[in-house]
Amino acid sequence: MSEKDRRFWDKAARKYAASAIADEEAFARTLTRVRELTPPGARVLELGCGTGTAALRLADAAESYLGTDISGEMIAIAKEKLADAENRDLALRLRFRAATAETLAEEPDCYDIILGFNYIHLAGDLPGALAHIRALLAPGGLFISKTPCIGEVNPLLRPLIHLAIPVMQLFGKAPSVTSLTAASLEDAIRAAGFSIEETAYHSVKKNDWRPFIVARAPQ
Ligand SMILES: C[S@@+](CC[C@H](N)C(=O)[O-])C[C@H]1O[C@@H](n2cnc3c(N)ncnc32)[C@H](O)[C@@H]1O
Repeated sequence: MSEKDRRFWDKAARKYAASAIADEEAFARTLTRVRELTPPGARVLELGCGTGTAALRLADAAESYLGTDISGEMIAIAKEKLADAENRDLALRLRFRAATAETLAEEPDCYDIILGFNYIHLAGDLPGALAHIRALLAPGGLFISKTPCIGEVNPLLRPLIHLAIPVMQLFGKAPSVTSLTAASLEDAIRAAGFSIEETAYHSVKKNDWRPFIVARAPQ
């Protein structure tokens, strides 16, 4: 785990919690699809859950739901939101804790579904993170990801982004970011032993650069 990234996200947490969801319609479509893919009794792990926005809206579909994040500050806010939640039953199945795929792999549990929203491009070592995710899944379990793929951005803007990120990182204003395309992410997921079952785009906006990918671990 990168201490630098943890500090970056700890600092960003309160501001992130106050920011609005960029595309509510697309987010609703994503949540609906995840619910459809969640079988009764599912044990769900979310990586990079931030302040728990998706977890609080999905946990009722799961038998158990563990929301995790590298940032203790993000997790503290997620816990505050859970304590304030109107649906008191959520607390029976939803837990939050500071952890990464790497640290969880040291105490393996078997999850039926692992979720990562706006996460895997930030996870640092992509093959390493995917290997941990596969190890944490039960045989035949699902990894579901929706994350920005910078390589899908408008080609006119792409060079600017590629230039800006390292400069911002130099000044501590950006975390580790892997530049992906939908195809390169699918390839990396396949290389980790998964089969891709679905790639979809949930935004009606023209340039959706966040593919929703459903990948199945081998039986
Ligand atoms: C862009 S935010 C997305 C948060 C939430 N999933 C959402 O969609 O609103 C990225 C989150 O990933 C977390 N993160 C970054 N690197 C991580 C890592 N290596 N392991 C776990 N979480 C990480 C950050 O702390 C942050 O909360």
